[in-house]
Amino acid sequence: MTDQAPAPEPEIPGQTTGDFHGKPTSASRTALSHIMTHNDTNLLGTVHGGVIMKLVDDAAGAVAGRHSGGPAVTASMDEMAFLEPVRVGDLVHVKAQVNWTGRTSMEVGVRVLAERWNESTPPTQVGSAYLVFTAVDADGKPRPVPPVIPETERDKRRYQEAQIRRTHRLARRRAIMELREQRVAEGHRD
Ligand SMILES: CC(C)(COP(=O)(O)OP(=O)(O)OC[C@H]1O[C@@H](n2cnc3c(N)ncnc32)[C@H](O)[C@@H]1OP(=O)(O)O)[C@@H](O)C(=O)NCCC(=O)NCCS
Repeated sequence: MTDQAPAPEPEIPGQTTGDFHGKPTSASRTALSHIMTHNDTNLLGTVHGGVIMKLVDDAAGAVAGRHSGGPAVTASMDEMAFLEPVRVGDLVHVKAQVNWTGRTSMEVGVRVLAERWNESTPPTQVGSAYLVFTAVDADGKPRPVPPVIPETERDKRRYQEAQIRRTHRLARRRAIMELREQRVAEGHRD
């Protein structure tokens, strides 16, 4: 048993102070749709993962540009999950929103859904991804972004989950850099 106070919940912009210079999630949320054709297939005859990744990057880039009010570049793409194969004749919907903002970077969450182009059955989720975009100025240098203000309970959950991913990304990068420095100090060349 401990008498330590529990760790405070991560702060969500707009929750306690009213964050009037931020932008709500809905202001930049974007969807794009595309019908898959034979040009999009791999050697197995299903849609190439790279085609889906391009659509994901396009939708996320539009969201990042809208949120930050200018150019933004893909800094990383992680946790791209392919849940179901996508086929020729599928109408693919890519839905993206800003989950979290830092000083100059934004995490964009993307859901990929597919339905037969000529059937009225509901779309199924076939993939998901999280990308980090960094807003840049005319010289390609990072520039500040407005804080995102999560609106719904789902937005707030995504914000908190994105903070966990951010913490893990930074910790992983730090651990790898430390290992490399240690190996150099031990005289390893590679
Ligand atoms: C992304 C880029 C602008 C970052 O520049 P940098 O000089 O390393 O800038 P910083 O280290 O100050 O990082 C700026 C922000 O980006 C984030 N960032 C940088 N690299 C990142 C990475 N690999 N993963 C996640 N976030 C990253 C930082 O955490 C920081 O966020 P914060 O301000 O919210 O805390 C630069 O690496 C770049 O131009 N990369 C190429 C981007 C590109 O061409 N993408 C398309 C590929 S085809």
